[in-house]
Amino acid sequence: MKVNGKHYRTVSMEQQTIYMINQNLLPFKFEIVALNSLQESCEAINNMTVRGAGAIGSAAGFALAQAALQASKQNYLREIELAKKAIESTRPTAQNLFSATHFVYKAALESPEKAYQAAHDFAQADVEACRKIGINGNSIITENMCIATHCNAGWLAFTDYGSALAPIYEAKTLGKKPFVYVDETRPRGQGARLTAWELQQENVPHRIIADNAAAFFMQRGEIDMYIVGADRIAINGDTANKIGTLEKAIVAYEFGIPFYIAAPLSTVDFSCKSGNEIPIEFRSEREILYQSGYDKEGVWREIVVASPNSMAINPAFDVTPAKYIAGYITEHGILSAEDLADYFPNY
Ligand code: MRU
Repeated sequence: MKVNGKHYRTVSMEQQTIYMINQNLLPFKFEIVALNSLQESCEAINNMTVRGAGAIGSAAGFALAQAALQASKQNYLREIELAKKAIESTRPTAQNLFSATHFVYKAALESPEKAYQAAHDFAQADVEACRKIGINGNSIITENMCIATHCNAGWLAFTDYGSALAPIYEAKTLGKKPFVYVDETRPRGQGARLTAWELQQENVPHRIIADNAAAFFMQRGEIDMYIVGADRIAINGDTANKIGTLEKAIVAYEFGIPFYIAAPLSTVDFSCKSGNEIPIEFRSEREILYQSGYDKEGVWREIVVASPNSMAINPAFDVTPAKYIAGYITEHGILSAEDLADYFPNY
């Protein structure tokens, strides 16, 4: 990815410090934060300084490597075990986080240096998978296609490239002129804030639409295809993604619009038989009742946007049954739900 012409990764690690783009400040301010302890890293995952399944995965792997490097010699095994638990309790839904802690923990049992290398390998595998997702997904994009997306599954949601947006970037590079409808994605606005900002950086033409406007555009035949990301995919193809995905998929199905999931296989939970088993995160009601951003004077403000004495309830994800999904754009090609299980022995 390039921001203002300079190359970045969403999350990276050097020595004992983890660096990440602070996504809570985007699109108003571009800032890299440096995290020097396990506690700081866990807090950054939980408060969504870093967010998006792939980026959370890399951050989790780096956080465990950081804990291993900082653990005492006497209590090393106990400390890395506790660190793994702490990281895994930050956010429950994205499978990539658990894939990363599992992978890095095995290496950490050997040595902190091995953990450090494993965390980098995991992040690099995420980059490579997303690059291939871009190439594979481009094959279903035709000239001047209008593609809708929900939430942010671009490079901000991964270490680099992204999943749902990677095919669009590839198609744009090849001169196919894709156009993107961006669901705003309440309550946190990952579409309006992050996807729109990313598409601007990549010079991809787009419009932000209200979450409840997607059916309007689908009914008018203005959306040719949906591509969204995934936080966890069950072995039968049921897919957890940002809240609101389910209703978009059902409406797309009704109008005969293909609805694709783009995700690396590190998002598939091979122990999960169906979507009913996917744990769903509930976040603070404040995300619904308040909105925040910079005012015209450049001061960060939080404002109330709902009836102040009402309470809210805030599931962060929903599960789309496989029957609504046209295919899974992965690093191994475009797969059907039935194909997913074939990859089980490798993971
Ligand atoms: O709560 P977030 O922003 O971490 O949500 C995760 C997501 O970004 C989405 O659900 C996304 O579409 C899939 S993650 C690549």
